[in-house]
Amino acid sequence: MVYEMPETVRVMQQHRSIRSFTDQPVADETFQEIIRAAQRAPSSHHVQAYSIVRVIDPEKRATLARIAGGQQYVSEAPIFLVFVADFWKHEHICIEEDSDFQIDETENVLVGTVDAALAAQNALTAAESFGLGGVMIGGIRNHPHDVRDCLNLPRYTFPVMGLCLGYAAEVPEQKPRLPLETILHTDTYCEKPFIESRKAYDEEMTHYYKTRSANQKELSWSQQMSDYFAKVRRPAVTAFLAEQGFALK
Ligand SMILES: Cc1cc2nc3c(=O)[nH]c(=O)nc-3n(C[C@H](O)[C@H](O)[C@H](O)COP(=O)(O)O)c2cc1C
Repeated sequence: MVYEMPETVRVMQQHRSIRSFTDQPVADETFQEIIRAAQRAPSSHHVQAYSIVRVIDPEKRATLARIAGGQQYVSEAPIFLVFVADFWKHEHICIEEDSDFQIDETENVLVGTVDAALAAQNALTAAESFGLGGVMIGGIRNHPHDVRDCLNLPRYTFPVMGLCLGYAAEVPEQKPRLPLETILHTDTYCEKPFIESRKAYDEEMTHYYKTRSANQKELSWSQQMSDYFAKVRRPAVTAFLAEQGFALK
């Protein structure tokens, strides 16, 4: 059977995060198409609960790079976008329409986060289809209050992630993923494939970290994950969400 890989799937399977960019600017038409593609992402109940803030001001870029823990590419990328979960619009409608605004359920935080994330992933895939590269930036949630103040985000909004985009200055090796059988289950969740293949995946990841062209290190995936989950990550997020109007009930 002659099988031709669809171009979109090829682009998605070629993904690697890009953290170093050339000075080549991104044409405005290209940027507009990327945002149009982002906006075509499906949306729960068609609430479209997100906004995208393009950050151009170098001072704001520097502030966001600092908030993200000193990630220089937030300052340097030709394009930096912040994907914001946004229910301010819905509150506005409910006020204008003299209707109750029930936002207290945790479900709404999931809805806004998923909507923003789907739009961000669509933007990244669209950008990669144009030959650009990029990296998502969860580091902006280190200090969500500071992001809110920097971008003047209204109540009932919260920043979900940033996205750096531009032409890649270097194309890193692809990072190995978990074996397919550990993430794809049929009819019932099955722990066995993960338990059985963890050591082999650790070896694959250790080899990847040791031999990749940049930022080599001696680290297995299990070590990385146990270090990650040994620490509280972003304790300010819960209080911030409450301040923004989400009661998380
Ligand atoms: C929501 C989200 C937030 C992320 N935040 C960061 C970040 O702050 N800084 C960074 O360098 N990479 C960040 N990444 C990129 C991941 O580190 C990267 O996707 C992962 O290591 C897999 O590598 P790959 O994308 O090259 O395949 C983030 C990815 C996602 C999905």
